[in-house]
Amino acid sequence: MIETFLRLFVNLILQIPLTANNMLGSCDSFVVLPPLTQHGVIFGKNSDRPPREFQEVVYFPASESPATVKCTYIEVEVSGPTKAVILSKPYWMWGAEMGANECGVVIGNEAIWTNDNDGDHDPKVRRLLGMDLVRLGLEHSSSALEALEVITKYLEKYGQGGECDIDNPNFCYHNSFLIADPETAWILETTGKHWAAEQVTSGCRNISNVLTITTRIDKKSDGLFEYAKDKGLWDGNCEFNFSEVFNDESKPGAQRLEAGRCLLNELTGSNNFKETDMFTILRNTESDICRSHTSNFPTKASQVSVLRTDRPSVHWFTATQDTSKSVFKPFVFTKNPIISKHTQIQNGNRNEPHTLYALHFEAVIKQGNEVQNLLRNMENECVAELNTIIANVGDDLSELDELFKDCVETEVKFYR
Ligand SMILES: *[C@@H]1O[C@H](CO)[C@@H](O)[C@H](O)[C@H]1NC(C)=O
Ligand SMILES: *[C@@H]1O[C@H](CO)[C@@H](O)[C@H](O)[C@H]1NC(C)=O
Repeated sequence: MIETFLRLFVNLILQIPLTANNMLGSCDSFVVLPPLTQHGVIFGKNSDRPPREFQEVVYFPASESPATVKCTYIEVEVSGPTKAVILSKPYWMWGAEMGANECGVVIGNEAIWTNDNDGDHDPKVRRLLGMDLVRLGLEHSSSALEALEVITKYLEKYGQGGECDIDNPNFCYHNSFLIADPETAWILETTGKHWAAEQVTSGCRNISNVLTITTRIDKKSDGLFEYAKDKGLWDGNCEFNFSEVFNDESKPGAQRLEAGRCLLNELTGSNNFKETDMFTILRNTESDICRSHTSNFPTKASQVSVLRTDRPSVHWFTATQDTSKSVFKPFVFTKNPIISKHTQIQNGNRNEPHTLYALHFEAVIKQGNEVQNLLRNMENECVAELNTIIANVGDDLSELDELFKDCVETEVKFYR
């Protein structure tokens, strides 16, 4: 109480935003599993990013991978072919905020701040970005567990760090990850090269910009306990609690984590949680889970995935800012998916947002056009129609090759 009052007072004097989470980066990721869903696993992420940035939605087919790959800042060794992936990625970096691969694996990362920032664990040093790890994990795994192993292997070998905002050299952080496939999910939380992971096999789980793993640790880095002891962060006597040991004093995500928890509880009550319920959560502005374009860290893109073993998985992306004013467009991994050029920068021109982002900004964000209601109806119809197709489709998915492209192009036509 007193602490809150003091902070309010100090903030008023300095005229800075009221809460720490307004100043720091922020994101929210959710996963819902049976018995709360009827079909498979549902993943959702809002990616909140610096205001000037935008995200491309890009598809990379499976390929024979070269021996090395240049990530955002460093080159790493890779082995084996890559899986086909669809990514929502900040336009200037190699890695992605979130995405999916052809095996039904999805990954989203979160910025976290820990009390462990020296030497090998200094997040200001250019190494792998959390976003690079998301992409490496998707390109080289066929299950959530395998993705966890890939990410932690790269993390232990190369470490993490480097500027995560092209305009702000001080925006550096450690990462947590929500990794899911049609059968299970993993929460992976890291500090430098060390990490802990918790498996989620049923129910629901949400992460924001704080450590959430406590004493239930299903996998961890070698030497984690000794490392914590040597750093004087753990006495070695009381039960090892990952959050308690590594949490930074300021916990920027705690408020939204609480809000996410409430929303999840509300919407999972019927044991029939659907992709549209995840859309609702990601559009919630009251909780700050969805942040408008005037925020210091606006919601820049969203993904919702329905992961199934019995039917094709469907991945929904916005590729535009402010989820409450955006529409989700579906993507399915077919043999030859074709996505739209309108969600990608053209001719390598990094100064200009892609067409969809620019047109959406002009029509919906700036002019508050009524087009938004029409598009929301289109989204509802799209969900219903696609669910019918998915329920009946056989092995040949070619009718879905241009699904994402068609939806993006319809949206573009609305704005023009
Ligand atoms: C959201 O995350 C918090 C922190 O781990 C957890 O305590 C809570 O149960 C989660 N909410 C749901 C609905 O799973
Ligand atoms: C772990 O530590 C956190 C943060 O201090 C605390 O909120 C939580 O209750 C602890 N959990 C357990 C199981 O001890």
